[in-house]
Amino acid sequence: MRRPGRRSRANSIASRCQQDAATQARLRFEPWYHHMERQKGAKVWRDGHEMIMLSSNDYLGLTDHPKVVTAAQEAIREWGTSTTGARMANGSRSFHRDLEAKLATFLGTEACQILSAGYLACQTAIATFAQKGDLILVDRNVHSSLWAGINQTQARVERFAHNNPRDLEEALRVEEAKTPKLLVIEGVYSMEGHVSPLRELLDTCAEHNCFVVLDDAHGFGVLGERGQGTVSHCGCEGEVDLIVGSLSKSLASTGGYVAGDRALIEYLRTHSKQTIFSAALSPSQTAAASAALDVLIDEPEHRARLWENTRYYLDGLKQLGIDTWGSETPAVPLVVGDRERTYRIWKQLLKEGVFTVMAIAPAVPPGKDLLRTAISARLTRQELDRVLEAIGKAFKKSR
Ligand SMILES: Cc1ncc(COP(=O)(O)O)c(C=O)c1O
Repeated sequence: MRRPGRRSRANSIASRCQQDAATQARLRFEPWYHHMERQKGAKVWRDGHEMIMLSSNDYLGLTDHPKVVTAAQEAIREWGTSTTGARMANGSRSFHRDLEAKLATFLGTEACQILSAGYLACQTAIATFAQKGDLILVDRNVHSSLWAGINQTQARVERFAHNNPRDLEEALRVEEAKTPKLLVIEGVYSMEGHVSPLRELLDTCAEHNCFVVLDDAHGFGVLGERGQGTVSHCGCEGEVDLIVGSLSKSLASTGGYVAGDRALIEYLRTHSKQTIFSAALSPSQTAAASAALDVLIDEPEHRARLWENTRYYLDGLKQLGIDTWGSETPAVPLVVGDRERTYRIWKQLLKEGVFTVMAIAPAVPPGKDLLRTAISARLTRQELDRVLEAIGKAFKKSR
């Protein structure tokens, strides 16, 4: 029997959601949660149409690499699908420990802890360490996962201008020396494709005794001599307290990691809510990331191809006169600057068989509405030419 009044009672949370859905429908603004029927390499199929996937973070194109797929299949055969519990209570498995040891060695840190999402890794790298009375200094443009960590603490927060060491210096200069300080930055900014001026930021931090958390989700596998990321690219090995990142980009899996000195990682293992109260990474996800890391180390041709593709794409966009916000990496925004026009271009690209993602203010600064695109090693020269032609046509048509 239905309880009287249960549905009719004005439920402000449900009605707020209904109103939002109605607004979305009225605007015919439905650019999210597409249903893709199939994916293969750098292609997806939507409504039966094949499209070039230009927004995936599969930078090295390893999601269907035979060694990665086989490793995931074998892990399921040997271990089953899940450990169905958190590691602190139910124990780690040898595949967790193996991947952590491999990541720590590759990143040049003493220890590493993997978590079930990059988002959780970023959140916990701040929430576990910053406390009331501390000061967090944060680049304005960092990812939502880092803000989630910041918002979970009771520390004071000071934002500084994006990639601006002078602004950081000014913020630090007025602070008392005895206040514990924590810097939050990204190695490669996911929306802008900008590389952090890490050397200058770290020099400033060293002067002010600041703990540094670097999210290198988009630098790992992309930058550095062997793909170790932004720290290696900038020659700052051993100077960052915690390097955090995601297994869902260059490592073609899902999950995240936090790497640093053993004492810090041990502290994280026993204090991080995101670790203690969340189930461990599954056998297949861990095995896929581990095999992808081996491929990254043993087959440098994927990274070489990624950079060839990136340079070709950036050159092509320059010739088309498209504003890429100064991106220097495979994460390439196409800045449009106006919400309606961004939508029209996005829609036209869909028609042309090119899938991109819209980022609209306030997700980006006002006037920077954009289409986020990302380059993969899997894209062929022919596909890149098709993409550039479609982008040129869509921008022209939208004027
Ligand atoms: C900069 C940055 N940090 C963290 C994350 C979260 O990683 P994950 O998707 O693995 O949860 C993302 C995801 O897109 C990201 O772009």
